[in-house]
Amino acid sequence: MKRTLIKNIAQHITETIRIEGWVDVARDQGKMAFFDFRDATGKVQGVVFGKPDVLEIAKTLRPEWVVAITGIVNQRPEKMVKEGVQNGNVEIEITGIEILNKAETPVFEITESTVDINEEVRIKNRYLDLRTERMHNNIMMRHRVAKLCRDYLDDQGFLEIETPILTKSTPEGARDYVVPARLSPHQFYALPQSPQQYKQLLMAGGMERYFQFARCMRDEDLRGDRQPEFTQLDMEMSFVNEDDIMELNENMLINIVRKLYPEKRIQQIPFPRIPYAEAMEKYGSDRPDIREDKDDPNLLAFCWVVDFPFFEKTATSDDPQAIGEWTFTHNPFSLSKPEHIENIKNKTNIADIIAAQYDIVLNGYEIGGGSIRAHDPEILKSILQILGHSDKKIEANFGHMLKALGSGTPPHGGIAWGFDRLMMILQNEKTIRELIAFPKNGEGRDPMMDSPSFIAKEQLDELNLSLKELPKK
Ligand code: AMO
Repeated sequence: MKRTLIKNIAQHITETIRIEGWVDVARDQGKMAFFDFRDATGKVQGVVFGKPDVLEIAKTLRPEWVVAITGIVNQRPEKMVKEGVQNGNVEIEITGIEILNKAETPVFEITESTVDINEEVRIKNRYLDLRTERMHNNIMMRHRVAKLCRDYLDDQGFLEIETPILTKSTPEGARDYVVPARLSPHQFYALPQSPQQYKQLLMAGGMERYFQFARCMRDEDLRGDRQPEFTQLDMEMSFVNEDDIMELNENMLINIVRKLYPEKRIQQIPFPRIPYAEAMEKYGSDRPDIREDKDDPNLLAFCWVVDFPFFEKTATSDDPQAIGEWTFTHNPFSLSKPEHIENIKNKTNIADIIAAQYDIVLNGYEIGGGSIRAHDPEILKSILQILGHSDKKIEANFGHMLKALGSGTPPHGGIAWGFDRLMMILQNEKTIRELIAFPKNGEGRDPMMDSPSFIAKEQLDELNLSLKELPKK
């Protein structure tokens, strides 16, 4: 018999059906046995009575065993209907049980939510945790939001394009993860901190509108909203200004909320735009939490933070023009506001230069950021010089970008959302780990796979690598 999905059972009242799934709850009551069964689409109750041979097997079933159940779908009497519960109006009268797989007693009970269970245990046994309703829902909603974004961007003429994972260091400001290159001894790829340079090179390649759900890797200290690998919804567009990019992103976010989270309320539309200086003065933060009511789990207070200083002083010489004593606040590939371009070219009034940069903030979290880019190679070169790179270093590290910009690259700009963070807030979760199927723990380890791990001497030899003695603690 063909399998019926649990969500469709109510369409088969009085029919004999077969379901396949897990034993969620088993209650042995002597002459009868009651069960909840679960598959990816939901739960249903079942009962065995009056069939000694079936009852004998039923009594052996334990939670998390995988079974195929045949039975008759009975309508519950009116007063037994469970209002508001999936399949609350039906019950399966079990006529046959096939055990597809047994299960060890799980290390924690698969309840609706395991949020109170030790997280290390949950991550170590992620496949069990993913069976819970809450985690299942988180992962499903992540898919739904991603699908909406894909459809939305497709409608807007964007192409989804993959960019390399084995790449060269990009200066996003965090430490790189590196991968030894066997065919080029002593040389390393870097894993991308973001597809920043590639997406700009796609604009040089005439793609005009790009997006990607891009995996980004950054070796930085971890927090609830930071993972060593995370996902960006990354976008880049040609022939646009700041407003074009912000409007498109704002509309997409509003669409997500209206279509997939109708119970949530957006505090203010259009999203307020707060200059960086005002955010710092009024809220003491460049990611202000502007919610009117912080107790409301369904309130979404989006805002843009704009007008960031381009450069930040790193050294303390008295010379305010000193080159090489500056770092970028966001992205070295950004452009300044048009009125500051002369200052970039002449390397004057560096502290006052404002970037064409915008961050999108939601309930006090930075959920994305982007900018209009420098598409003139001379301007990018000047920015890199202000950042203290020698001409030799500029050529070695950024020569390809300068060359591409000089090949006829259109004006362009973009943005990247921290997709895990957006989903964390939409799902009312406290960490992005709850939205990632297989996250790393606080030490950046995966206790389930036990990674990172040592590699064999032969692998090291093949890569011409040897390990240094660790310093004594
Ligand atoms: P940025 O570095 O601001 O910009 O990253 C964009 C967004 O990614 C999220 N994010 C993270 N999420 C989880 N874990 C992390 N370790 C982590 N680091 C960042 C944040 C952030 O706003 N290339 C530029 C984008 C652009 O200019 O188009 C970039 O990567 O939500």
